[in-house]
Amino acid sequence: MEKLQYDIKKRTSKIELPTELGFGKLFTDHIFEMEYNPEKGWHNPIIKHVENLSVHPGSMFIHYGQAIFEGLKAFKSVDGRITIFRPKDHIQRLNNSAKRICIPLVDEEFLLYALTELVSIESDWIPTNPGESLYIRPVIYGMDPSLGVKPSTNYKLFILLSPVGAYYPEGFKPVKILVQDNYVRAVRKGLGECKTPANYAASLLAAKEAKEKGFTQVLWLDGIDQKFLEEVGTMNIFVEFKDEIATPKLNGSILPGVTRRSVIQLLKDNGKNVTERGISIDEVIAAYKNGTLISLFGTGTAAVISPVGWLTYKDLKMTLNNGEPSNIAQYLFDQLSSLHILKVEDKYDWVVQVNNEEVEA
Ligand code: COI
Repeated sequence: MEKLQYDIKKRTSKIELPTELGFGKLFTDHIFEMEYNPEKGWHNPIIKHVENLSVHPGSMFIHYGQAIFEGLKAFKSVDGRITIFRPKDHIQRLNNSAKRICIPLVDEEFLLYALTELVSIESDWIPTNPGESLYIRPVIYGMDPSLGVKPSTNYKLFILLSPVGAYYPEGFKPVKILVQDNYVRAVRKGLGECKTPANYAASLLAAKEAKEKGFTQVLWLDGIDQKFLEEVGTMNIFVEFKDEIATPKLNGSILPGVTRRSVIQLLKDNGKNVTERGISIDEVIAAYKNGTLISLFGTGTAAVISPVGWLTYKDLKMTLNNGEPSNIAQYLFDQLSSLHILKVEDKYDWVVQVNNEEVEA
């Protein structure tokens, strides 16, 4: 890989972050970019000022959706260091998504280096209020101008940064979820486990209709029988039964969440009976009716932990844990938030620390 280039414009004014950051509305000054062609492989890696992309209207990703992305977060630790949560896992997942839709793989070590350089250069943008972070969005898309359906030969990769607050307006407060049985998000052996825009496009109408009815998001059921739980909104889902905490097993249509994996580890280390298995909506309803259902919560990079306070399936409206976060959801939220900022020891080696020495422009 060629040497990373820098074309950095120093800011003349101080960064003033708004008190309400929202999610993904504000972007930092610089972006990382590199390009791929079959002769040179990935080349031209550069950190430069953000500018509009110049895209041919025939670019393949516009027509046929050959694109993938990731979402991860950087924080300032309690003692002022810059931390990124599980970047290697996210970069690995980016390559797994790449394989599925014929995008050339990236050199994981180099991408981690470029990503940490970018975060270091933009470290003044990392917000420090509880619940806030610098969201990191790597994207790869096929850019050949061509209308034939086939993999592109040329690609662009960029990493965009956005200071963010809570993903859902509710923050950590419990959300209202509608069990969706009119539409499906993905089917097995399709694109469900791949972080590609198509899956999010598939979710829009269901989310819109749920919002119009007063719900925050939907709980997706499996694509064949609409019987088994898959994901909730943009997150993985966990169900707390009296003696077990269960999450749908990765079956090819569910996104293998990095927060999901972290939560499983934290629960196991706390001696909880955590399982990955098929969970039917009928089982959830039966447990609700016989008093053995405690709660549900979602896990994801953007939302971290999102307790479900109310779950509606057809005509049945279920209030979970009196509409309050369960003790487990609270514990996981606190623990993950503390790990992000190294308020507790990172015995898992999940956090990568970034050097923020001045970079020679
Ligand atoms: C994430 O949790 O990082 C996601 O990618 C979800 C999303 C905002 C699309």
